[in-house]
Amino acid sequence: MPLNLPTHIAIIMDGNGRWAKAQGLPRHEGHARGVEAAEEIITAVREWKIPYLTLYAFSDENWRRPRPEIEALMSLLKAYLLSKQQKMLKNGIRFETIGDIAKLPQDIRDTIAETKEITKGGKAMTLVLALSYGARDEIVRAVRKMMDQGPLRQAQGAAGTRDQGPTAEEEFKKYLDTAEFPDPDLLIRTGGEFRLSNYLLWQAAYAELYFTPVMWPEFTPDELEKALEEFSRRERRFGKTSEQL
Ligand code: FPP
Repeated sequence: MPLNLPTHIAIIMDGNGRWAKAQGLPRHEGHARGVEAAEEIITAVREWKIPYLTLYAFSDENWRRPRPEIEALMSLLKAYLLSKQQKMLKNGIRFETIGDIAKLPQDIRDTIAETKEITKGGKAMTLVLALSYGARDEIVRAVRKMMDQGPLRQAQGAAGTRDQGPTAEEEFKKYLDTAEFPDPDLLIRTGGEFRLSNYLLWQAAYAELYFTPVMWPEFTPDELEKALEEFSRRERRFGKTSEQL
């Protein structure tokens, strides 16, 4: 039973395609099984009373996939949201997104907006889907927003002292898509790759990274527990020495 639980878990759900291929199934079946795995993990995270979960559901690079695969992912997303809105409401799950959702088809945007509205009072957990998301794109959009509004010059310099007003870093954070959420303290990637793939590059600065060869459709709540146990064993020093902690 892990002792120190994270506040925010971010997951790169990789391996749906390879899992499907290994079973002799089409890729979209891998994604369909991936949605079921995501649902089980969302429930488990809520039961662990971990307040934030961010899932990388569609990256801005995923727009380069074949049209039928993009359409399959979009229709899975829409069906998922429509079928789970009431369950999220009942379980106190607040639904949010990060990413450039303006690029998504209008019907999906409408479903996203409706789901956010229905679940906005959820207090048990915040579920964030990264959709049409890329961290560099997010940072560039944040810089643009900030230049339009211009308050950074009033903040302290990049190395500004923390006891005199906001630092430039704290000011900048407010323009990221994740402004309202704490930084992830545990980042999990399934599917055996050791990369961040443009996911939460700013926010994951101090996250513990957990990589597993398990393909996403097979990432069960037991696998999540292994990641939580590993997190619990690690000592987070934030640049300090062990003795200073
Ligand atoms: C990576 O597998 C996964 C994706 C690109 C999409 C993940 C999306 C889901 C699991 C469904 C969305 C979730 C919800 C909750 C609606 P891959 O296709 O890159 O796998 P591969 O590396 O084996 O090809």
